[in-house]
Amino acid sequence: MKSSDVIIIGAGIIGLSLAIELRKKGVSVLIVERDEPGREASHAAAGMLADAGDEFPAPLVPLAHASARMYPEFVHEIEDESGGKVDLREHGTIVLSCHGEFPEGAEPVSTQRLKSLEPSIEASSLLLTAGENRAPSEICAGYLHERSVDPRELVAAALKAARHRQVDISSGAEVKSLLVEGGRTIGVQTDKAKYTAQTVVNCAGAWAGVIPPFEVPVKPVKGQMLAVVEAPRLQHVIRSEKVYLVPRGDGRLVIGSTLEDVGYNKQTDVNTLQRLFEAAVELVPGIAKSRRHEAWAGLRPGTPDELPILGATAISGYFIAAGHYRDGILLAPVTAALMSDAVTGKNPSFDLSPFSATRF
Ligand code: GLY
Repeated sequence: MKSSDVIIIGAGIIGLSLAIELRKKGVSVLIVERDEPGREASHAAAGMLADAGDEFPAPLVPLAHASARMYPEFVHEIEDESGGKVDLREHGTIVLSCHGEFPEGAEPVSTQRLKSLEPSIEASSLLLTAGENRAPSEICAGYLHERSVDPRELVAAALKAARHRQVDISSGAEVKSLLVEGGRTIGVQTDKAKYTAQTVVNCAGAWAGVIPPFEVPVKPVKGQMLAVVEAPRLQHVIRSEKVYLVPRGDGRLVIGSTLEDVGYNKQTDVNTLQRLFEAAVELVPGIAKSRRHEAWAGLRPGTPDELPILGATAISGYFIAAGHYRDGILLAPVTAALMSDAVTGKNPSFDLSPFSATRF
């Protein structure tokens, strides 16, 4: 029977980032992963590091800002320890809205400036879509200083960094239940083996809700996406009401996404993908001539109030860091910092009570 100080359930970006943070504090860590490390939501994500205030339930705003600020350092550390390169882009985001609704903090962008920022965007089609007769100098977009990251590169590098820091990883082992004795955690039972630890942290993403005996209302929210190549080279992330476009450094353009309550189903659907593609072409007509490279779907870990679950539970030694819904990539650095404090008995630098597992 393997024993470690802390068992983390789930080798997505949340589990891996927390494991690295705990290793820095000298804690021994075993990650137990039901499938392959880093191949679920972290692999499917778009990677927009969007921390604009009105996109989030209020209690999450300070954490989102803090995590966005932590990102450059977070990525540099992972690059250093993995020897890998992670595409962290600094070009910012352009938000397009037919109705002139932009997130708080967005700098107004006129149609003329938009043309110089992103020449391939068809701003006039936006104004026509809105059925409005506006002059070309009028405001039709907002600019946000947001970064984006390639989540696949990030999670692959985080996995290498975790291994470099002697995090033990058991893949293909699904946790069937938490082991509890006298009201305290003593480890986990997988379909293959028992692992012991005084502390267990559930970072199982969309699967976090179904680990007895402490179940929480986390459910999968499917998102379908596609990537095209040979599209106009956008510099910025582009977001509209219908679609978002996320350029990668290697020339891929990611187009997303749907929000579907269909259980653990990761199938893609040609009609849905076609609708996303058409919405992208409406914004950037040059995408019509691009080549489809890949389509996929991922499962976001949703909660009833769209807040993550962070912190201790009613079972001594059992913690949860899950339910990050659409923001797991953004929130990984702050989650790792806060949860490593919580797990090692330090006071986290933010009040975790709004995120408590006992709120349901
Ligand atoms: N964070 C992007 C999405 O959830 O679609």
